[in-house]
Amino acid sequence: MTAATELSFVHRFEPVADRNAPPLLLLHGTGGDENDLIGLGRMVAPDAALLSPRGKVLEGGMPRFFRRLAEGVFDEDDVKRRANELADFIGEGRAAYGLPAPIALGFSNGANIAAATLLLRPETLAGAVLIRAMVPLANSPAADLSGKPVLILSGSMDPMVPQDNAARLAASLRDAGAAVEHRVLPAGHGLSQADVALARGFLANMPRAIVSAA
Ligand code: MLT
Repeated sequence: MTAATELSFVHRFEPVADRNAPPLLLLHGTGGDENDLIGLGRMVAPDAALLSPRGKVLEGGMPRFFRRLAEGVFDEDDVKRRANELADFIGEGRAAYGLPAPIALGFSNGANIAAATLLLRPETLAGAVLIRAMVPLANSPAADLSGKPVLILSGSMDPMVPQDNAARLAASLRDAGAAVEHRVLPAGHGLSQADVALARGFLANMPRAIVSAA
């Protein structure tokens, strides 16, 4: 069943029978929408409720989660504003659908807004899987991410995300206290089967204690 209560983001919500599984917040890449990652979400967390908003920023008609000035060059004021807006939506979604704090599963632009939300509003997420993410803010805000599990999946041949950039993101999340696993796959910017397998394993092994404390 798909539900779509009126909230501040156009979104899709997929409930499940097992309310103990932590929900996933699905965050699509540039040009995607709320339908894009539903299949991926189901593959990596078959028992999880899925909350999937559509990015509000349009770039040439393509939805995104924040404005950029050029490829890989972000409008950081907009990143901050949009991350706070998304954090507020997470609160609305939790109240509307009776959810604990979700784990973000973001791809590309969705992974970048997830990283920004973790750093700016850490209390809103229980953890994250960040696929092809990069540093969202040049000066990483001081955040307490103590014990939050974060999986970063980068591609060694990714033309959009330099490897040192993804490594800096991993370091800044680690410095904030997150339990970061950073894997570099023999892949480009696109999603691969290895991403699916690693995300699924990571979510299946996530300590329940961390999730239920969120
Ligand atoms: C971004 O703008 O967030 C990154 O460059 C990735 C993307 O193209 O969406």
